[in-house]
Amino acid sequence: STVRIIGTPMDYGANRRGVDMGPSAIRYAGLADELEAAGVDPVDTGDLLVPRAEARDPDADPPTRGDAKFLREIEDVCSRLATDVSETLADGAFPLVLGGDHSVAIGSLNGSADDADVGVIWFDAHADLNTPETSPSGNVHGMPLGAVLGRGVFGQLEWAHAPGVRESSIAYVGLRSIDDRERELVQESEMTAFTMADIDERGITAVVEDALAVATDGTDGVHVSLDLDWLDPKTAPGVGTPVRGGVTYREAHAALETISDRHERDDVVRSMDVVEVNPILDEANETATLAADLTASAFGKRIL
Ligand code: ARG
Ligand code: MN
Ligand code: MN
Ligand code: MN
Repeated sequence: STVRIIGTPMDYGANRRGVDMGPSAIRYAGLADELEAAGVDPVDTGDLLVPRAEARDPDADPPTRGDAKFLREIEDVCSRLATDVSETLADGAFPLVLGGDHSVAIGSLNGSADDADVGVIWFDAHADLNTPETSPSGNVHGMPLGAVLGRGVFGQLEWAHAPGVRESSIAYVGLRSIDDRERELVQESEMTAFTMADIDERGITAVVEDALAVATDGTDGVHVSLDLDWLDPKTAPGVGTPVRGGVTYREAHAALETISDRHERDDVVRSMDVVEVNPILDEANETATLAADLTASAFGKRIL
């Protein structure tokens, strides 16, 4: 099977802190070789063009629109990413999106759910369910799920809202950092939230199996979104918004192996993104290397 690697070197959603170098760092860590070892055929399509903030016309509109920073730039990139992802699926290949900050998921989900009902497994410390109306930071990487669900102002933005993603088909795994407003939103929503406490209690494999059940029920396939800050910062230091108490190296591999075991049986996963690797904050590319290794596990790489 062909996996098309789509680099999206965008850090506008994280308020410009270096995750734009993520795709390069993950490639440099050996992603293509790891995928080949997993038995898939990687085809790297290079990076989407992301205009540099430094090249911005200082007389142009300010970078903040409403309470969402760089929303115009993010729209431009995510619209093109959505097209690439849906074309990749139409060609019968698997879109693997390398971020970039988590706002790239607005593009990957709009592409993946262009012509399908898509379930989502969100491996993340954060809920990313804010909207410009609720966000405490204005950073769009805290809003991708709010965007695709068409909440708040996103309901009027066709490039952001992805009606093929239903709330009840979304499962969080590893949640441990939620804004006060967001906590209410998650509780009132139809989403399924597995927190770190659920992983402590039940073990990662059981939790991921339940998340798969949520995301596959009544959908045409699953989008896996992997934010590297899902892992404990001791294991994944190269992220912009680290939160203590994340999953371990072994739990992370077990989770993605559970996904690929299911995928090998039922062909359920249709698209994936790997986001928030920040080489500026990393230690000798270890977080990017982890991202490449975990992606290979998701595509079936095993010890024996
Ligand atoms: N909840 C915070 C915010 O909305 C942090 C979001 C972090 N998101 C991420 N993809 N790292 O600003
Ligand atoms: Mn995130
Ligand atoms: Mn996160
Ligand atoms: Mn849309």
